[in-house]
Amino acid sequence: MEQEGPLEPVLIQKLIEAATDQLQRAYAPYSHFQVGAALLAENGEIFTGCNIENAAYTPSNCAERTAFFKAVSNGQRSFRAICVVGGKNGVLSGFTPPCGVCRQVMMEFCDPRTFQIILAAGKNKEQSRVFLLKELLPMGFSPENLKAHRSFFD
Ligand code: THU
Repeated sequence: MEQEGPLEPVLIQKLIEAATDQLQRAYAPYSHFQVGAALLAENGEIFTGCNIENAAYTPSNCAERTAFFKAVSNGQRSFRAICVVGGKNGVLSGFTPPCGVCRQVMMEFCDPRTFQIILAAGKNKEQSRVFLLKELLPMGFSPENLKAHRSFFD
């Protein structure tokens, strides 16, 4: 059963803490920008992730994709929300919005009208803001687009 509507405040706080906990696991020896993510599956399970950089730079993986790939490889494909935190040397100073590639990965598994992206600039829920995927990736390309050609005006 898909759960819609705003996340309960305690759940938001739990996701912020889970994402923040991941900062220490970030492998970011090149940018020194550490990112943590906590992905909430429909069944309530939380999958965490950190960014993992590489000396060859391009193979680097963002925290959000680490969380998604962990979840999918664990059998989960339905998600409610993700929380992202990040900062230079792991110190949160502002929001860390997901990069374009990560937004596209979210588009693959999540309904852009309901999937919630929590950005937090601190450990406290009051320092966070919730966005819908459709707000951060308007008119995104999804598996739906491959099914049949649908006019923009349909
Ligand atoms: N990064 C993430 O992990 N998630 C984001 O939302 C933005 C950027 C990582 C990639 C790279 O390891 C470092 O932050 C600096 O760009």
